[in-house]
Amino acid sequence: MATQKVTIVGADGKLGPSVLDELLASGKFQVCVFKRASSKSKSEYPPSVRVVRVSDDFPVDEVADALKGQDALVVTITPYLTELQKRLADAAVKAGVKHFIPADFGSCDSQDKKVCELAPLYGRKADVRQHLQELSASSRHGFFWTSLVCGHFFNDDLHLKHIFLEDGRADVFGDGELRASTSTLKQIGRATAKVLELGASEKTKNRVLYIQSFCVSQNQVIAAVERAASTKLKVESIDAQKFMDKWKPKADEGDPDGAEELIWALGTLYANWEERELSNNLLGLSEEDLDEVVAGILG
Ligand SMILES: NC(=O)c1ccc[n+]([C@@H]2O[C@H](COP(=O)([O-])OP(=O)(O)OC[C@H]3O[C@@H](n4cnc5c(N)ncnc54)[C@H](OP(=O)(O)O)[C@@H]3O)[C@@H](O)[C@H]2O)c1
Repeated sequence: MATQKVTIVGADGKLGPSVLDELLASGKFQVCVFKRASSKSKSEYPPSVRVVRVSDDFPVDEVADALKGQDALVVTITPYLTELQKRLADAAVKAGVKHFIPADFGSCDSQDKKVCELAPLYGRKADVRQHLQELSASSRHGFFWTSLVCGHFFNDDLHLKHIFLEDGRADVFGDGELRASTSTLKQIGRATAKVLELGASEKTKNRVLYIQSFCVSQNQVIAAVERAASTKLKVESIDAQKFMDKWKPKADEGDPDGAEELIWALGTLYANWEERELSNNLLGLSEEDLDEVVAGILG
């Protein structure tokens, strides 16, 4: 049976609103949002969206009760809440929900052992996926998961790409020619809606799907920013290994800047999904135009 009733947990973060918008735009789903009781984030959704308040620690029995009758659960919460995601998955199984999309949406591939070693965040995503896999294997009602890996969120602040427009400069690794897959939030929302539409197919069942808006080099992005802002940036080359040697220990200590810098590097150096199996065609996703997207971001 087609997926109709979809619950989102984390609809009010960076990614969640785009997922919510695209699920509604598809016209195929009845959408429900779970919000933790203490949530202070905005709660203005279209009238068709049902909102359910859940205790802050998302107890399995309470969440399972609230999920009864739902077909799918999409999780777009802040990525460090591994145990919370596992509880959500346990509750989904208990409630008979079939399809689970975890908070992967990675800049990097959480199936890549090297990436997981360098940035523990991806090990956490792999840990959640392992739990989902075990639940799927023991499920009697056909529970399955699909993860989306999208590369860096392209809409993120230009500073996160080391483009400092106000200072007229940018950094690149090496010669800046290495290409990486990256996605706009809208494209990720569209991909999520398509995955839910496809439901339990051989291509989506317990699979990690790689998507992109485009696969571009740092030089291409900088050139697009220069065109959109009618400016010329001074580009400095930095050594990738030295950069990671500097930031990895800080990331390991829990320093958020360290984690951000490390993930910028990994998602720039190890994120070319065209070298893997890209799922854009499967999901009916067109590539986007880099200049148009950059112009939209710079307003
Ligand atoms: N590829 C990339 O470049 C990139 C960048 C960023 C994130 N991501 C990924 O995208 C996904 C979503 O991340 P995001 O940055 O959009 O998330 P975010 O903005 O950090 O998450 C905010 C959402 O998480 C919920 N949340 C926060 N703390 C919570 C808690 N203790 N218990 C329950 N809910 C909590 C918030 O709920 P309330 O509304 O209740 O506050 C809010 O809806 C993650 O998988 C992340 O790894 C990828």
